[in-house]
Amino acid sequence: MENDLQMIREKINKCRLCRLYQGAHSAVPGEGSAVAQVMFIGEAPGKDEDLQGKPFVGAAGKFLSAMLEGIGMKREDVFITNIVKHRPPDNRDPLEDEVETCFPYLDAQINAIKPKLIVTLGRHAMHRFLPDLKISEVHGQAKRVKSIFSQKQVILPLYHPASALYNPSMRSTLIHDMKKIPILLKKINDAS
Ligand code: URA
Repeated sequence: MENDLQMIREKINKCRLCRLYQGAHSAVPGEGSAVAQVMFIGEAPGKDEDLQGKPFVGAAGKFLSAMLEGIGMKREDVFITNIVKHRPPDNRDPLEDEVETCFPYLDAQINAIKPKLIVTLGRHAMHRFLPDLKISEVHGQAKRVKSIFSQKQVILPLYHPASALYNPSMRSTLIHDMKKIPILLKKINDAS
């Protein structure tokens, strides 16, 4: 599993399949446990992530780490990545073709790790798995989808931590929704 992840990481580091690598300092493949039960998927690397080659290390990432601690988890216990692996210029939203081109990497990471639970952060990540839903209506609600490997996969859509940084009500909603992770995980593990 670690080997698979390493191979995927190397491919991402060399990727030239879309335009995004041109303006990026480094690729951000993702990091964490190769046997993580929970995988967090954000939108795209920002400036700090691009400079360090690591996901969620800026302000939103610090908030994510604090919320993880709040539910008794460490970053090393989970796997954290993004829908696209290079930073879009000026932090613009990733374009549809960029998301499509990058998706096989995420797909391969999911298949290597086989997480029990995928937590999407923000609407872009959610839409990749749950295209017809509105995040304001479904955040914090576990959804079961057929993954590309036609196994059932549980997805928990959450708001993006960046959207909660300066918005107190969003912040408490996100902290509240995060607390569902250990409960859900126990349910999933008890049922299997
Ligand atoms: N926002 C994201 O969606 N991903 C990161 O890695 C950092 C900020």
